[in-house]
Amino acid sequence: MKKSIVAILLVAVVCTSLFAGGGSEAAASVVTNAQKPVIFFNRQPSDPVSGAIDMEVMNWNDKTYYVGFDAAGGGAVQGKLVVDYLASADPAVIDRNGDGIIGYVLCIGDVGHNDSKARTQGVREALGTWVGSTDPGVENTKEGSAVVGGTTMKVVELDSRAMTGTDGTTWNANAATDAMGGWATRLGDQIDMVISNNDGMAMGCLQASNYPAGVPIFGYDANADAIEAIGAGVLTGTVSQNVDAQATATLQVIRNLLDGLTGDAVITAGITEPDQYGNKISADMEYLADTKALLAQNTGVNASNWEQYTEGSRDKGIQQTDAAKKRVLLTIYNSGDNFLSSSYIPALNYYAPLLNIDLTIVQGDGQNESSCLDKFTNFNSFDAFAINMVRTNSGRDYLDRLQY
Ligand code: BGC
Ligand code: CA
Repeated sequence: MKKSIVAILLVAVVCTSLFAGGGSEAAASVVTNAQKPVIFFNRQPSDPVSGAIDMEVMNWNDKTYYVGFDAAGGGAVQGKLVVDYLASADPAVIDRNGDGIIGYVLCIGDVGHNDSKARTQGVREALGTWVGSTDPGVENTKEGSAVVGGTTMKVVELDSRAMTGTDGTTWNANAATDAMGGWATRLGDQIDMVISNNDGMAMGCLQASNYPAGVPIFGYDANADAIEAIGAGVLTGTVSQNVDAQATATLQVIRNLLDGLTGDAVITAGITEPDQYGNKISADMEYLADTKALLAQNTGVNASNWEQYTEGSRDKGIQQTDAAKKRVLLTIYNSGDNFLSSSYIPALNYYAPLLNIDLTIVQGDGQNESSCLDKFTNFNSFDAFAINMVRTNSGRDYLDRLQY
């Protein structure tokens, strides 16, 4: 009798101490998936119609941020690039049919993406064709004006197109090739200028067999092939959204959060000030607290400065760290997206090992959210998540999954 009581007591004591030890250890180390850092990048959680930022998604947890670039500022840079070009152009050369009007066509990209909207607005505002709408179609523009080589000339948007592919993907370069072919046939020498909201579509336009030789054409992104095309005199200009700064910042914010930084340090360490490992992004970054958005700046690129944007210009401010290794799951909305595949992913793959981040990149098809969501899984194996969704209003679908 006594023996069994002692035995029971012993078991109870051992159990309690095991439980207490295990319990407190577990409390210290178990982080639920819903508490892990979530960084949205390149596609900002927002309303596809109004462009309004989805703050419900952005306030998911205190470790949720957006990393991108100054979209509105970028639209203005793009507009200025075009206006500056016109200012020094010869009216007799650029006005191909001599009707006194600068006619241009516009490749929009993705009407539901606020980057795309900002660029359409920037271009239309700069050329005076803006009537308050970022939608495609002549009916959404008015006659504008610009100074061309000292003379004020009328400017008309002859046509614009979203550039959705036959498969439903947006920012589609093949759609741009087709559209350009159609425009060149239908509008002929009314076209004095081609403006595209990304380089992929601009390069697509140049693929049209009837592209009117010598007509100036502008892109956006500063992808390697576009920079090369500027050097070769084929592309007139593009805008750099500083992919190196964005890719590093996406990883750096994750690094900071996983290193336990809080408050301002999350968005300043390694970004505007050196972090504990001595790293710091060289370019300027801006933080908008009201939308939890960390933004890189844009610069115009043309024949005068393209050489500064050639490959190999990685940020020397980021060097190898001895930080603890962390695992991050990162989604890409469309494996076929020109900018993400040729500029963003190579930058991520360059900086991730330097910050000691083990990246798992999964990619979607650019049409169905499920193509990304189905690969957004296995959360317990990761310390943080970086999300680039197919539709800008799908953020909640990703976050909901982290709850279980
Ligand atoms: C880029 C586009 C790209 C898009 C993808 C934009 O910021 O300029 O080229 O297709 O992001 O979300
Ligand atoms: Ca003309």
